[in-house]
Amino acid sequence: ATTRHEAEAAPATCDGTIDSNHSGYSGTGFCNAGNAVGAAAQFTVNAPAAGAATVAVRFANGTTTSRPAGLMVNGSTVQSVSFEGTGAWSTWVTKTLTVSVNSGSNTIRFSPTASGGLPNIDFIDFTTDGTPPPGNT
Ligand code: GCU
Ligand code: CA
Repeated sequence: ATTRHEAEAAPATCDGTIDSNHSGYSGTGFCNAGNAVGAAAQFTVNAPAAGAATVAVRFANGTTTSRPAGLMVNGSTVQSVSFEGTGAWSTWVTKTLTVSVNSGSNTIRFSPTASGGLPNIDFIDFTTDGTPPPGNT
């Protein structure tokens, strides 16, 4: 199953502002995090079972410089992600990442590792086909 989590909708958090000045976003806006190391966007997702899941993150980077970030799951950095320039702040691109999650609630956090901060973040689509094992439903 896939669940969309908009960056502007709690319990998601954005270390910046929720903006709507660049078209093409889903929902009512996007996260414009501060241009600083650690200025993050975080989502809370729910998995029916432990195991692999995918996080498809939709973003726009109107600069010509990639913006690197750590992908953190439940507080631990599990991989680096490079958010390349998309050509315009109104050009949104989706990048799909595979993560390992726990059964139940998990936090998915993008924490930038360079002073440019994050790209603008629209949403994540969280997908897990996991089904709870017998007895754990
Ligand atoms: C511009 C743009 C913002 C973006 C920012 C940035 O100000 O309008 O949407 O977040 O650049 O460089 O991060
Ligand atoms: Ca920004």
